[in-house]
Formats: sequence, structure tokens, C-alpha cells
Amino acid sequence: MNKIAIYPGSFDPPTNGHIDLILRSSELFQRVVVAILRNTTKKCLLSVEERLELLKECTKNIPNVEVDAFDGLLVDYARVREAKHIIRGIRALTDFEYEFQIALLNRRLAPDIETIFFMPKEEHVYLSSKLVKEVALLGGNLDNFVPKPVSIYLNQKIKNFLHFYDTEG
Ligand code: PNS
Repeated sequence: MNKIAIYPGSFDPPTNGHIDLILRSSELFQRVVVAILRNTTKKCLLSVEERLELLKECTKNIPNVEVDAFDGLLVDYARVREAKHIIRGIRALTDFEYEFQIALLNRRLAPDIETIFFMPKEEHVYLSSKLVKEVALLGGNLDNFVPKPVSIYLNQKIKNFLHFYDTEG
């Protein structure tokens, strides 16, 4: 059995929910490749390079996890990496329709690649990168939502950003 899995996403920023899923999948697969989508239409707060660095830092103690970035179709990237599994998380019913659509579309494109869904810890169910960004931009405490290196980085980035506007304005 092929035991490489790809965990794709935007990770803008990585949250405790993402790390929980990475840990869960690292226990099931020989190798987990956390893959950041480069060519997204979403407006991102962090650059791909910033997200790569943060994810590497947050997963440095999990030996079978690798962090990478990809362009183009996810199933093409999975083939290049010789992965037969795609990992996605489902937090609530609201995720289901979107995830179901992506999984079935990917299956149509690549019937040999299986999508596997993980449920996060209950305490992470409400978490999303979008809400974390909102809390961060409004100066809220991020400690319960993201790993320490991410909260330190985001706080500093937003401080620099606000300072720039103060001095420019
Ligand atoms: O964290 P996200 O933004 O919900 O992740 C979405 C992602 C990266 C999994 C999805 O957009 C994706 O796989 N994009 C790559 C392009 C692709 O393969 N599209 C067809 C399936 S959606």
C-alpha cells in the first residue's frame, strides 16, 4: 500500500486545527506532504514563503512531515509526489458541501487517488484561518488559535504594518 499523503491548503495562516490534522495524518501515513497552493485566487495575508517557513517551524518535531508548495492541479501534484491519498479536514456540516465537491471532482480527474477526511479535536471545530486573520488584524490574542511561532510572527507583521501607516500617514 502506498503510504504517502498530501495535505493541501492555503494555510493563511496555519492554525492549531491544521497542526492537529497534520499530527493525526502523520500517525496513519508513512509520509505526509503539507502542500501550500501557490496560484490561489484568494487574497492572502502571508506570502507562500512566509507560510512555508511557519509550517516548517511548527512541524519540525514530526519526522515524517514535509512542507512544500505547488502550482496547478492538486491531483497532478499528487502524482508527481507519488501520493495516493489527499487529506482534508471537515469541521462542521458547512464544510461538507465544498469538500464533497472537491473530493468528487478530484476523483473524476484521478480515480486512483483517494481523499480521506479527518475530524479535528472538538476545541478546534470553530477555528478557521479567515477568523484568525480577523482577530489578528483587530489586535486580539491569538494564543488559543495558532501555534506560538505563528502568533509571534503575525503580531510582529501587523505591528510593522500599523507602524508603516502611522509614519506614512
Ligand atoms: O485551504 P483551502 O483554501 O480550502 O484549500 C483549497 C485547495 C488548495 C485544496 C484547493 O483549492 C485545490 O486543491 N486547488 C488546486 C487546484 C485544483 O486542483 N483544483 C481542482 C480541485 S478544487
